[in-house]
Amino acid sequence: MKAVQFAEYGDPEVLHVVEVEEPHAGPGRIRIAVRAAGVNAIDWKIRAGFMREMRPLPLPSGSGMDAAGVVDEVGDGVSGVALGDEVFGTGSATLAEHAVLSSWATKPADLPFEEAAGYPVPVETATRILKEVGVQPGQTLLVSGAAGGVGSAVVQIARARGITVIGTASEGNQGYLRSLGAVATTYGAGLVDRVRPLAPNGVDAALDIAGHGVVTELIELTGEPAKVLSIADFTAPEHGARVSAGGRNGGAALEEGARLFSKGALRIAVAKTFPLAAAAEAHAASQAGHVAGRLVVTVP
Ligand SMILES: NC(=O)c1ccc[n+]([C@@H]2O[C@H](COP(=O)([O-])OP(=O)(O)OC[C@H]3O[C@@H](n4cnc5c(N)ncnc54)[C@H](OP(=O)(O)O)[C@@H]3O)[C@@H](O)[C@H]2O)c1
Repeated sequence: MKAVQFAEYGDPEVLHVVEVEEPHAGPGRIRIAVRAAGVNAIDWKIRAGFMREMRPLPLPSGSGMDAAGVVDEVGDGVSGVALGDEVFGTGSATLAEHAVLSSWATKPADLPFEEAAGYPVPVETATRILKEVGVQPGQTLLVSGAAGGVGSAVVQIARARGITVIGTASEGNQGYLRSLGAVATTYGAGLVDRVRPLAPNGVDAALDIAGHGVVTELIELTGEPAKVLSIADFTAPEHGARVSAGGRNGGAALEEGARLFSKGALRIAVAKTFPLAAAAEAHAASQAGHVAGRLVVTVP
């Protein structure tokens, strides 16, 4: 089958479409014929070698964690899913014609494959960090870097739970952020002074989705390091704030994502699609860092 691989860490140009042996679904796994694969920020960080200490890879390696497609193998011990079912989920080497998934949910029939492929990591991450930061219905949550893939999921899932969300994004993404249901403002110098008037009852919790050294300002706004959680700044604990780095409950989160989509409460916009042969361009666009929604690679 055709798959995107890299044989060395480096710039997006290290990605190539090559012929490889098909993977197979082991116990507890399913395999899909991939129709579309979501591009996460973590994908380019892995390819660039930034995660090589934490997550060493045998090279050459495939790329991609998220995908949507049609089930074509079901591993031992798996129930509730059958050949031909349309699913979306998380696995490995998803930029390929076939990929093995470790967590998944049934894709709603009216959710296009391209859009569904962008949901898994953002939705799993969003449900996990909303739980870990402990924000409750009726409270106010500040989200730094709210317009990307994870941010889009956080804002909408929080809004669906009755949480008021103040989100930051670049000037060009203010309208997008408002369309998700957030009170929007820009990031950068003066954040504390911009957010205070938007939160007359205070900020109950804050999530740092994008990094960029914002943790101390989030602590100032919430009044307590324990109310701040980052997924992108591993220096956060130096200030007393927490870091969340990966979860295990993907299937349940994706089922919640599917339910919210079907209720009209969750859409993660497809910012742009790329064919498999242009995977390097998709990585470069993700790495540039200003995507509203999700970049997606389609597989014929
Ligand atoms: N620890 C975990 O469990 C976990 C899980 C998933 C992802 N992550 C990490 O979380 C981060 C976000 O992932 P993603 O896939 O959502 O990325 P993404 O889709 O590329 O979104 C990144 C967003 O960051 C915003 N941004 C850029 N510069 C900023 C700044 N100076 N201040 C605030 N926001 C800024 C951009 O907003 P504008 O376009 O408006 O500039 C962009 O929309 C990545 O670092 C990823 O590695 C961690």
